[in-house]
Parts: sequence; C-alpha cells; structure tokens
Amino acid sequence: MRKGLKRVGIGIVAILILGIVLVWIVSSIRWNRDYEHLAIATEPIPVPTDEATIVLGKHIAATRYCGSCHGSDLAGGYLMNQPILAVIPAPNLTSGIGGVGRTNTDEDWIRAIRHGVGYDDRGLIGMPARIWNQLSDTDLGALIAYLKSIPPIDNALPQRRIGPLFRLLLTLGKAPVSEATLIDHDAERLSPPEPGITLDYGEYLALGCTACHGVNLNGGTIRDLDGALVTALNLTPGGELAGWSETEFLTTLRTGITPSGRVMPLAMPWVYVGQMTDDELSAIWLYLQSLPPLEQGTERTDM
Ligand code: HEC
Ligand code: HEC
Repeated sequence: MRKGLKRVGIGIVAILILGIVLVWIVSSIRWNRDYEHLAIATEPIPVPTDEATIVLGKHIAATRYCGSCHGSDLAGGYLMNQPILAVIPAPNLTSGIGGVGRTNTDEDWIRAIRHGVGYDDRGLIGMPARIWNQLSDTDLGALIAYLKSIPPIDNALPQRRIGPLFRLLLTLGKAPVSEATLIDHDAERLSPPEPGITLDYGEYLALGCTACHGVNLNGGTIRDLDGALVTALNLTPGGELAGWSETEFLTTLRTGITPSGRVMPLAMPWVYVGQMTDDELSAIWLYLQSLPPLEQGTERTDM
C-alpha cells in the first residue's frame, strides 16, 4: 500500500518536472523567435534641428502620451513590475545615465518608434509602435528632434525580464505580443493628411486613441499601469458621446471630468491627449461623429 502511494507520488513529481521542462523549452523557442534578435532595416527620414521643429516634436510627444509610460519627464517608468509575470521597464529616453538617448542614432529612434524594435534588436512589448508606425515622416522627424533635445536625467532601470507566468502564457499562446510582429515593416507609406479640421486629419489624430479604444473606437478592455483590467469606453455614436456637444468633448479631455460628472481615471491619458489644440480636438470630434454607432466593445485592445 505504502509502496503504491510512493509510486503515485513519484509519478506526479515526474509529470510536474516534465511539464515545467516542456514550458521552459517551448517558451524559450517562442521568446527567441518573436521577442529577440529582430534585425530590421529602417528607412532614413529627415530629422531637422531648428527650434520650430523641436516645438512641434514636443507637442507630438505630449499629445501621443509618451510620458504616460516613460514618465512625465521621459526618464523612464515601469509598464509592468511583477517578477512572477514580468519586469518590463519603459526605458529612460533622455541622454542621462541609463537613458537610450545617450547612444541612440536617428536610425535607432526610427526602429523603435516606427517598427517596435529596440536599439538591441529586441521586439518591444507594450510600446504601441503598431500605432506610431502611422506617424508621418514630418511628425516622427520632429518627435525625434525633440527627444534628442530633452535634458539628460540619470535613471538606470533594470533590463526587462520574464517570469514563470509569462513563460506559461507564452506556451499557451496568450502572452502580450511583441509589437514588431504586429507591423507590416515593408508596407508602402501613405501620404499623411494636411493638418486641419477635416475627417482625414481627425482619423490620423485618432490613431492614438485606437491603442485602447480599439481599431473601431467602440472601446474594449485594457490593463492599466497598476495591472488592473479597466474598460476603455465606446467613442462611437453608439456610446455616451452621442449625447455630448463638441464643447463638452473638449472640456472632458481638458479637465478629465465627463459631462455626467465622472472623474476619469489616469488609465485614460487625458492629461496628455488634452494638450491637443482646439483644432486638433475638433478634428477628432468630427471624425468620431462620422463613425457608425457600435455597441461597447469588450475584447482586449491593448495587446
Ligand atoms: C503604453 C506605454 C507606452 C507608451 C504610450 C509609449 N511607450 Fe515607448 N516603450 C514602452 C515600453 C514598455 C518599452 C520597452 C518594451 C520592452 O523592453 O519590451 C518602450 C520602448 C521604447 C523605446 C525603445 C528603447 C530601447 O530600449 O531601444 C523608445 C525609443 C520608445 N519607447 C519611445 C516612445 C515614444 C517616443 C513614445 C511616444 C510617441 C512612446 N515610447 C510611448 C511603453 C510605452
Ligand atoms: C491608454 C489608454 C487610452 C488611450 C490612449 C485613450 N483613452 Fe480614452 N479612455 C480610456 C479609458 C480607460 C477610459 C474610461 C475612463 C472612465 O472609466 O471614466 C476612457 C474614456 C474616454 C472618454 C470618456 C467616454 C465616456 O463615455 O465617458 C473619452 C471622451 C475618451 N476616452 C477619449 C479619448 C480620445 C479622444 C483619445 C485619443 C486622442 C483617447 N481617449 C485615448 C483609455 C484611453
């Protein structure tokens, strides 16, 4: 009897060890294939150095909410800091100690922001490059010009590291993907619309909103920086916005308080997108009004 129990025990332990080894092997293969060593050729774009360009770049960095993950001074932060799952810093972008700005070439900036691949050829996780991929050459050039001009701040963050839970998710095909794998790196670049209160320019600006509100802008589920699941609301006329005026829309994004008096959580980066000009927000409003009314989405939109 005791011998039998012992055998069952040994069997269970053996299966467990086998399972762990299997997860380790499969996750290592997938990690190396999709998240590391992604050498990608980038196309050069002009990066001017004049003051007007840097001012434009500062506006792009603010309204595209780089600071919501990389810190308001762009000296870095954490997308995730849970060793059992993963430790994924949003790197220090300045030229201070620990900052990528210290060594980045223009090509490195383009590769990261447009293609989702870091200076060391790693496929970035949680960095919405699939969306910044659509930034025009003018806007991206200005953004890079600005990033190169920001004051150096020392802040050395650890290298990213995945934990056992991430390996398990990777094996099950449920891990947050590498942005680089979501991008068609050879796609022909469309010429961006002229700035103005137009549907086309509104659509261009609203790209940044799709990172959380989804490609159809009817909302979905995202994970906030504390790791909690929250709902990004429906921005089509099928949602609450149907009853808003344009002024109420602008006020909501500037104050973080909706017409019904709800204070929006920081998961909605209104502090950043609210820095858009009146014309930019009006263009987005025009575009949102033109969308088909859809029901609130529930799918994950941030990965
Ligand atoms: C939702 C959070 C988030 C936002 C918004 C965001 N980033 Fe990132 N970014 C990250 C994370 C996380 C990484 C590192 C990912 C990794 O190591 O896998 C990263 C990596 C980068 C890198 C690569 C650094 C390297 O090591 O080579 C650059 C450059 C960068 N981001 C610039 C920007 C700029 C510019 C913006 C605004 C247009 C921006 N990011 C917006 C989260 C974000
Ligand atoms: C990083 C994720 C994220 C991004 C990017 C984002 N949002 Fe949001 N947004 C949210 C979340 C989460 C909520 C829900 C907030 C709440 O519960 O009050 C929200 C709510 C809103 C609301 C309130 C809707 C309502 O019915 O009360 C508006 C308006 C809005 N977002 C507009 C925008 C616009 C316009 C953009 C792009 C310029 C944008 N958001 C980009 C996450 C995001």
